[in-house]
Amino acid sequence: MLRGTKIGLRARHEDDIPILRTELYDDVVNAARAESGPWRPIRPGSKDQRLDADGEDPGIVQFSVVELEGDTLVGTAALWGIDSHNRSAHIGLGLLPSSRGKGYGTDVVATLCHYGFVVFGLRRLQIETLADNTAMLRSAERNGFVREGVLRSSAWVMGEFLDEVLLGLLVQEWKQDSKAWKA
Ligand SMILES: CC(C)(COP(=O)(O)OP(=O)(O)OC[C@H]1O[C@@H](n2cnc3c(N)ncnc32)[C@H](O)[C@@H]1OP(=O)(O)O)[C@@H](O)C(=O)NCCC(=O)NCCS
Repeated sequence: MLRGTKIGLRARHEDDIPILRTELYDDVVNAARAESGPWRPIRPGSKDQRLDADGEDPGIVQFSVVELEGDTLVGTAALWGIDSHNRSAHIGLGLLPSSRGKGYGTDVVATLCHYGFVVFGLRRLQIETLADNTAMLRSAERNGFVREGVLRSSAWVMGEFLDEVLLGLLVQEWKQDSKAWKA
């Protein structure tokens, strides 16, 4: 378990999957905004790589996000696109609707930064998000991520093209101020 201030990142448990699927991936608008492809229904019982990467792909580490107080599941998070040659990776996260706006997203990003920089020894972390996703942009910027560019009209989302923002954080810029983090 990786511990932030308010949240913990632990392995995906089997019984997390139906909750995450119902609350995040069966929501067509949320899924269309979070993924770079059209929403598709997933047959119950079939394996869904988005929720169950299962350690097969060395390029991704998947976590379930839980509240430290009470151990309740509140979302999903991942380090993905891990590039061991260039020592970089991407960060992705999604919280259940009832758990948004409580500071958890900012804490998840902080905890993933510790994981990427300290545990993995990476040099660069990257986040891509839709330009109108203020909560994600703020969660990243609160942790020191810098806006590096706008990918104009790069995302087809529910009938329109939207801009995406690319944010990056280098290890030397990262402020190791989340003292509460423990392995
Ligand atoms: C994006 C997401 C992870 C952010 O996590 P969160 O816990 O909701 O965000 P926080 O509570 O940590 O808030 C971070 C900042 O955003 C602001 N914020 C939160 N929700 C907001 C909203 N709906 N509109 C505008 N600002 C918002 C907060 O005030 C805070 O700002 P501050 O740092 O200036 O005080 C979460 O909202 C989510 O899962 N959304 C749906 C899925 C998604 O968009 N995933 C990212 C795909 S790239």
